[in-house]
Amino acid sequence: MKTVSDYIRTIVDFPHEGIMFRDVTTLFADPRGFRIAVDQMLHPYAGLEIDKVVGLEARGFILGGAIAHQLSVGFVPIRKKGKLPGATISEAYTLEYGEAIVEVHDDAIKAGEKILLVDDLLATGGTAEAGIKLVERLGGEIVSCAFVIDLPDLGGRARLEAMGMDVHALCA
Ligand code: PRP
Ligand code: ADE
Repeated sequence: MKTVSDYIRTIVDFPHEGIMFRDVTTLFADPRGFRIAVDQMLHPYAGLEIDKVVGLEARGFILGGAIAHQLSVGFVPIRKKGKLPGATISEAYTLEYGEAIVEVHDDAIKAGEKILLVDDLLATGGTAEAGIKLVERLGGEIVSCAFVIDLPDLGGRARLEAMGMDVHALCA
């Protein structure tokens, strides 16, 4: 029986030379792969109070939307700069292959709301840290951060855990 990692392919030298890009589109395209990934991401949170799922652009939207639906809670997108129509707050960050700015609507999370942060992949942790900072600036409390893939050699898990975060990933 195939496991989640069996549905993920690696594209060499994308988007830059030297990057081994983990492509989850093949996981999302497979009905069993997508279902078991979402089910396994949800598993650690059974019985926990979660008010909202926050997803990181772009692949965190696909996973986070499915997870929010399963939990019957709302979904909040963290988007790359310039995409959200309302008033936003922003954070700049660097990731494995570049730098960017992410934003969230400033009314998307209420103080004290318990948040599950979702993305497909944890590499350096720069993207996730920016997302955590945005949530916390709005007064949200991160319950946990959920990923399909953790690339531990790039230090993201250690970086998030040093911030006091609970981190779950399905595969390396
Ligand atoms: C990828 C991935 C994570 C981030 C992880 O997104 O989906 O969001 O990189 O890298 P880090 O841990 O080093 O920050 P990308 O920036 O490629 O955006 P996209 O999903 O919009 O293509
Ligand atoms: N984001 C950062 N590093 C990545 C990688 N190696 N594959 C896919 N997404 C990434």
